[in-house]
Amino acid sequence: MNESDMNESEQKGQLPADTGENIGLAGEAVDAIENLSGVHPGYRRAHARGICCRGFFRPSGLGMEFTEAAHLQEQQVNAIVRFSGSSTDPAVADLLSPAKGMAVQFILPEGEVTNLVGVTVPVFFARTPESFIDIVRTAHRLRTGTLGPLELMKEIVSHFTESKESLLAVKRLKPPASYAESQYFCIHAYVLVNAEGRKQPVRFEWVPESGVRTLSAEAAAQQPDNYLEDELELRFKDEPAIFQLIAVLGEEGDATDDPTRTWPEDRRRVDLGRLHISEIIPEPEGLVMDPARITSGMLLSDDPILSFRSAAYAESYHRRTTER
Ligand code: HEM
Repeated sequence: MNESDMNESEQKGQLPADTGENIGLAGEAVDAIENLSGVHPGYRRAHARGICCRGFFRPSGLGMEFTEAAHLQEQQVNAIVRFSGSSTDPAVADLLSPAKGMAVQFILPEGEVTNLVGVTVPVFFARTPESFIDIVRTAHRLRTGTLGPLELMKEIVSHFTESKESLLAVKRLKPPASYAESQYFCIHAYVLVNAEGRKQPVRFEWVPESGVRTLSAEAAAQQPDNYLEDELELRFKDEPAIFQLIAVLGEEGDATDDPTRTWPEDRRRVDLGRLHISEIIPEPEGLVMDPARITSGMLLSDDPILSFRSAAYAESYHRRTTER
């Protein structure tokens, strides 16, 4: 990717100007999700049930070599975090929505924010907005037949090979012991820009300081529906949840436009700092964890899903806040 591939608003590191095409497609994408999973008024159209927390991010200073982004210098910044289950149905038990989400909003000076949104699998199941819509519609069509969840997954992979890695990763997931002991991948490539204008493609990960811990199937079966929220509440009585923010540095030839593929495992990892989370809060009004909303010193990559998410999240926000 090079500078000429980015539009002007991306180069300023601001919210991407939504193309009319994305806005039209966003409506289709949210319709496709609703057709597959039903409408739950007032809730997000994906990751419907979640819990918001307050915390702060203390940068390590190692990011300064790569970016002028305000949260990656030396000053601590406040953050809002939302942990969630991936289901579109807010009533689904924690155990039944295998992938979990962690969305972080850094609160920056002068009313700016940067959102980094992660999930517990390293790749996404669709390469473009169009194929996302196609896959969700196909899942809907197949599900109205007699297929169980496993056969449905196999059938989708046979239609869409791009989904294979992601669906295998979901299949391999074990129930997490805690939201605070899970690792989250922000999936898309971003570009860090330093004071000299040097550009570095990166992928971000949130790594739990206390390590990753999962439950056996037997232990998980004993847990109440909301066990992850209960666990977080108990944990915060004694200790914060701490996550390290890692930037994985892309090298020449690493695709920045494909969220369905990982980069080679030997890529350099830079420790950008630590997020401390210690308090559950009510959801702040107007919260939209749009991952394309970033501050200067960062750019969106050419991943078409990344910029598309702005319009899709705005559409979901509009529907969930105007329907009751
Ligand atoms: C075409 C691609 C995608 C579409 C259409 C889509 C759709 C959505 C929608 C409609 C919401 C609810 C937004 C709101 O009402 O505020 C949402 C939330 C979420 N999505 Fe996606 N998504 C896409 C890709 C991804 C990817 C690649 C990830 C992985 C990092 C992801 C992770 C999440 C998470 C963690 C949330 C919850 C955010 C929060 O806590 O507020 N999504 N998604």
